[in-house]
Amino acid sequence: AKKAVLGPLVGAVDQGTSSTRFLVFNSKTAELLSHHQVEIKQEFPREGWVEQDPKEILQSVYECIEKTCEKLGQLNIDISNIKAIGVSNQRETTVVWDKLTGEPLYNAVVWLDLRTQSTVENLSKRIPGNNNFVKSKTGLPLSTYFSAVKLRWLLDNVKKVQKAVEENRALFGTIDSWLIWSLTGGVNGGVHCTDVTNASRTMLFNIHSLEWDKELCEFFGIPMEILPNVRSSSEIYGLMKAGALEGVPISGCLGDQSAALVGQMCFQDGQAKNTYGTGCFLLCNTGHKCVFSEHGLLTTVAYKLGRDKPVYYALEGSVAIAGAVIRWLRDNLGIIKSSEEIEKLAKEVGTSYGCYFVPAFSGLYAPYWEPSARGIICGLTQFTNKCHIAFAALEAVCFQTREILDAMNRDCGIPLSHLQVDGGMTSNKILMQLQADILYIPVVKPSMPETTALGAAMAAGAAEGVGVWSLEPEDLSAVTMERFEPQINEEESEIRYSTWKKAVMKSIGWVT
Ligand code: G3P
Repeated sequence: AKKAVLGPLVGAVDQGTSSTRFLVFNSKTAELLSHHQVEIKQEFPREGWVEQDPKEILQSVYECIEKTCEKLGQLNIDISNIKAIGVSNQRETTVVWDKLTGEPLYNAVVWLDLRTQSTVENLSKRIPGNNNFVKSKTGLPLSTYFSAVKLRWLLDNVKKVQKAVEENRALFGTIDSWLIWSLTGGVNGGVHCTDVTNASRTMLFNIHSLEWDKELCEFFGIPMEILPNVRSSSEIYGLMKAGALEGVPISGCLGDQSAALVGQMCFQDGQAKNTYGTGCFLLCNTGHKCVFSEHGLLTTVAYKLGRDKPVYYALEGSVAIAGAVIRWLRDNLGIIKSSEEIEKLAKEVGTSYGCYFVPAFSGLYAPYWEPSARGIICGLTQFTNKCHIAFAALEAVCFQTREILDAMNRDCGIPLSHLQVDGGMTSNKILMQLQADILYIPVVKPSMPETTALGAAMAAGAAEGVGVWSLEPEDLSAVTMERFEPQINEEESEIRYSTWKKAVMKSIGWVT
């Protein structure tokens, strides 16, 4: 059959905590042409520990690329039209590998992992100068969430890592670095780099100078020679060395939340988006200014789309557990067989009947930053059944978003008039309606929900030397939106929210 004629195409790897995807877009229309997804295993070797296999992650990327290319072939689309590849990734997750063998020296320590709680406590006792030392340079609170403490733990506890560092064989990276190094050749000349957005999540990166910070590396005891080169989010890093897309440049790299901000076209100061993935992350573009939060939000690098382009910053509200609570109901309690079933269960009852579920599995992130919190389900009676618990789990995602939205409104001064959303969970209509009810503002969702991948593809396609994607706003006007308006009255919404806050207080202080 005749091959379909199309403009240049751009591929995007979206390596999230729960799954890996590869997606291919038409660079002229932003239309999604084909994709493939593979779920990623998570290991919980001890209470509070979360690990993944870096090789499984890499393998899943190759598998998704191959399968997507096959699907494009079935659609008669020539894969030689793919001109660039972007990478977006779960952030903070820490890998150390051997540059001579290409072997990871330990599992990836996932962002959700809590093993560094005591490391954090010890470090916070010896912060030099004022307590603002880490925050003023990085925009981040000293927390188990970020890579520096995970890397510290690996250096302290894993012999193979210590030895490789001594012998100058160790490389550190977040998932973007691990993937780009491997995809561009690994032991045969792989490029060891990261972008400014991912670097800004390590707690080692100075978000003002946009460089690794010597004082921070000394404070955390991190040898600077194992760190990747920091590049912009949109430039050619290297070429694919193997597989169906061999020779295609990798020219976009963004942490997944930054990628979603770009994919949602939040290019103006004050524009915000909330992405519902494993966790839930509300980012508001603050332009060229680093705004420091008074209400528990992070300051982070939003993007820098080209070597000579200016840097943009964001305020971020981070929630650790969103989609992960649905996976927990599926894998740990077995009350649903597939994630989609949650909507059916919740619909059966339409209320939690006074049941509240605080899924503080990894402590509480914004706005509390409370590592001592643990999950609780409360308000139970003999009347409570699995449908109510399912409903309470969905409500928990919405209440947590309300908390970070409130913090954002206080920090920004001008309340958001609506919330732009994206991510896997947004296909759940009950969740979206609940979210509008709990926020008491409209929730707006683009018809193409893969905005994370779209953002990475845009960055890759716009890179110097590729130039197939224009980031001018007029290209983007065709995006259609679905809107959810609040349907309950504001008083009812407030009562539910204040009971949620009571439940949150009960979840704090379980571990000392
Ligand atoms: O900071 C963690 C975040 O990047 C994870 O994203 O999509 O896996 O929830 P996601």
